[in-house]
Amino acid sequence: MTEPIYQKHVFICVNVREGKISCKGMELVEEMKRILNEKGIGKEIRVNKSGCLGQCALGPMIVVYPEGIWYSKVSIKDIEVIVNEHLIGGHPVERLRIR
Ligand code: FES
Repeated sequence: MTEPIYQKHVFICVNVREGKISCKGMELVEEMKRILNEKGIGKEIRVNKSGCLGQCALGPMIVVYPEGIWYSKVSIKDIEVIVNEHLIGGHPVERLRIR
C-alpha cells in the first residue's frame, strides 16, 4: 500500500445559498492556504473548497480528515488557531467542535 499523498484534507464550505443562511467560506480557504504556505506545509495538508456540508445554520463549517473533526462558526481569526493547534499540533480545537 502506498503512503497517502496528503497528511490531512481540510474541507471548507464555500456554499452560497441566495437568501438563506450559508457558509460563504472562501475567505477562510484563502487564509488557511496562505498560512499553510507561509509555514511551508502547503503540500502536506490539502485545503479543498466544499459545497454544502449539511450544517448551514452552524456555518461557516470546516471538516478535517482523516480524523473526521467538524468545526462550526469558524471565523477568520480561528483559522490560524486550527492550523497551529490541530493541523500542526495534533490537538483539535475543542471550543469550535461539533459532535
Ligand atoms: S452552506 Fe455550508 S454547510 Fe450548508
